[in-house]
Amino acid sequence: VSLKARNTFGVDARAAVLARVADIGALQTLLAQKQFANLPRLILGGGSNILFTRDFDGLVLLPEFRGMAITHESGDLVHVRAGAGESWDALVRWSLAQGLCGLENLALIPGHVGAAPIQNIGAYGIEFAEVCAAVEIHDVAIGTTRWLSREQCGFGYRHSIFKMPEAANWIVTAVDILLTRQAQLRLDYAGLREQLQAQNIDTPTAADVADAVTQLRLRKLPNPALIGNAGSFFKNPIVMNTVAKQLQLKHPTLPTWPTPDGLSKLSAAWLIESCGFKGLRDGDAGVSSQHALVLVNHGAASGAQLWALAQRIQASVRQHYDVLLLPEPMVI
Ligand code: EPU
Repeated sequence: VSLKARNTFGVDARAAVLARVADIGALQTLLAQKQFANLPRLILGGGSNILFTRDFDGLVLLPEFRGMAITHESGDLVHVRAGAGESWDALVRWSLAQGLCGLENLALIPGHVGAAPIQNIGAYGIEFAEVCAAVEIHDVAIGTTRWLSREQCGFGYRHSIFKMPEAANWIVTAVDILLTRQAQLRLDYAGLREQLQAQNIDTPTAADVADAVTQLRLRKLPNPALIGNAGSFFKNPIVMNTVAKQLQLKHPTLPTWPTPDGLSKLSAAWLIESCGFKGLRDGDAGVSSQHALVLVNHGAASGAQLWALAQRIQASVRQHYDVLLLPEPMVI
């Protein structure tokens, strides 16, 4: 089965078997069959954060668990349950239409709800972890479904327990998100206030912020519907403050940010651009000319070609700055 239409890089990889599951019952029925139960498994959401460098000789599961609903409301706090198979951006728009605030900075992030906790998706100054109350998982090994609290999810920068070995048999089925009726807007991320001003908005609502974020993303990031990509291809590297200071002495324009645990985050885009890769093209594999952190498929690049380019970038940044860039998407 071709996965070309199921990954936003548009890479022409294949899977042995592809199965769409609408609910946990369907998943259990499928996995009760030996020929499927014994295959290597891969769970695929929107395919917007994955690079296939080869075919996947196993079972690709597409969770289509649906539903978005307010489950509980007390005072200003509102719990929303969303199925893993819903589109993330559809959830953002739906919540705003219900008059709920909290997801506005995360507008237009590609992918499904089920992937949000795995990556701890983040943009424009907020991360999924901050709105997460709990995550529902189904453990296919023991056949049980349970909720993990936010603390149990072990969230970090683009990290969570769902990337750890103990989660190997888990499938995220739903999330419980905590939103508010009163907006508590977060406008500190560079460029956001400027964007609102450019739209002549002085006292923004949550919907205005979602709109501004949408405009920013459309301008700054290549659209995966037009050119294959998976957003940021590398994480912003986190280093000791002394390392960041030394780098900044030599390179005063390198952007750095403090992390919550007292370290320094460096701009991977800046490092990549300064090594001369922005807009570079090697066959159909390339680096976006809009944003140096985004690898793009100009048409017929294979996953292996994209990965080779990623490794060239990694080696160059390491050589020039002695900093290791780690991939942000899952690399198969
Ligand atoms: N920059 C460059 N060259 C470029 C692009 C940016 O030097 O080509 C510099 C800019 O000067 C800016 C800095 O890099 O000061 C940061 O750029 P940007 O605001 O675009 O954010 P980012 O750190 O590159 C992160 C997330 C994005 C998210 C944006 C906005 C990661 C790995 N990426 O990118 O998330 O949309 O912030 O919040 O943390 C994703 O994860 O796929 C993703 C797109």
